[in-house]
Amino acid sequence: MEETKVYQLLKGYRNMPPANVKMLQELLVLFSQMLVDFPELKEVDVNPLFVSENDAFAFDARIVIDRRKVLEHQEPHKHLVITPYPKRYETRWRLRDGRDILLRPIKPEDEPMWLEMFQSFSEESVRLRFFQVIKDTPHEMRVRYCNIDYDREVAIVAELNEDGRKRLLGVARVGLEPDGRTGELAFIVADPWQGLGLGTKLVDHTIDVCKDMKVESIYAIMLQENTRAISLMRKMGFEVHFLTDGTARAVLDLKEEEEQYVPEEMEAAEEPPVRPEQVETPAPQPAGKEPLPT
Ligand SMILES: CC(C)(COP(=O)(O)OP(=O)(O)OC[C@H]1O[C@@H](n2cnc3c(N)ncnc32)[C@H](O)[C@@H]1OP(=O)(O)O)[C@@H](O)C(=O)NCCC(=O)NCCS
Repeated sequence: MEETKVYQLLKGYRNMPPANVKMLQELLVLFSQMLVDFPELKEVDVNPLFVSENDAFAFDARIVIDRRKVLEHQEPHKHLVITPYPKRYETRWRLRDGRDILLRPIKPEDEPMWLEMFQSFSEESVRLRFFQVIKDTPHEMRVRYCNIDYDREVAIVAELNEDGRKRLLGVARVGLEPDGRTGELAFIVADPWQGLGLGTKLVDHTIDVCKDMKVESIYAIMLQENTRAISLMRKMGFEVHFLTDGTARAVLDLKEEEEQYVPEEMEAAEEPPVRPEQVETPAPQPAGKEPLPT
């Protein structure tokens, strides 16, 4: 809005008081939501729109409806370039120490918490996750990791909200190939929160999300010395192969898994419970690739 010419007038001019810009912002958000919810809307023209100090209202409006889209079934959000935040993948869970956490897709506004989490990783955890020591995470890198295209990437974070302070404890991420059928999994839990079942649960939930997205197989690459991650992969049903370059590749065929993911269950899971349990079997992938974001 600030980049439009009319913005100068909205701030007030001559004897006109400033318009209620906050209300206008809310109106734009609601208007966008309407376009998100109704792909049948082909054109909408609101003109004029009055915004005063306390009020905002449309004096006239014209809407063109796409008859074809009304008649045919539309996949939700198929008409959008960027898929909206998939709230249905949020679920509550309880750490082995009794703390309640929220597992949810990463959001752009997570950047400060993501940085704080990264700073709590030990050098060893970073090396095992990225195959190198990374000390600095520039803003561009953080934006890349937090601002994802939900159609092409799955990134589930564990959020703890304690004493009014929110923190991220770990993240599991699957970067999908362009065909959306295969993806590379990577995961990390901040050192103070390891050993509480979180790594297992993050991977488990990420697998469920991938199944729901009709991903057919996922793989992870780990250093062969990373026995903890390798045993976690095995436990989750991955098949692990040790490669000659010192890495291990874990592969999971999701088509073979009968379990049907039920999003409603997740939404209904507003109450914490559930336990970490999983199954068994792991495997890693090749070196020399750009590491998957955390
Ligand atoms: C691998 C990792 C994610 C596991 O996270 P976590 O939260 O500790 O995982 P869990 O608590 O679910 O434990 C998973 C398994 O690790 C092992 N484990 C966990 N804590 C352990 C510890 N302190 N000592 C030895 N083994 C341990 C256990 O075998 C456990 O299985 P169990 O449930 O049968 O006991 C974590 O160690 C990590 O972030 N490592 C660095 C990054 C990395 O290696 N990523 C994988 C490559 S992409």
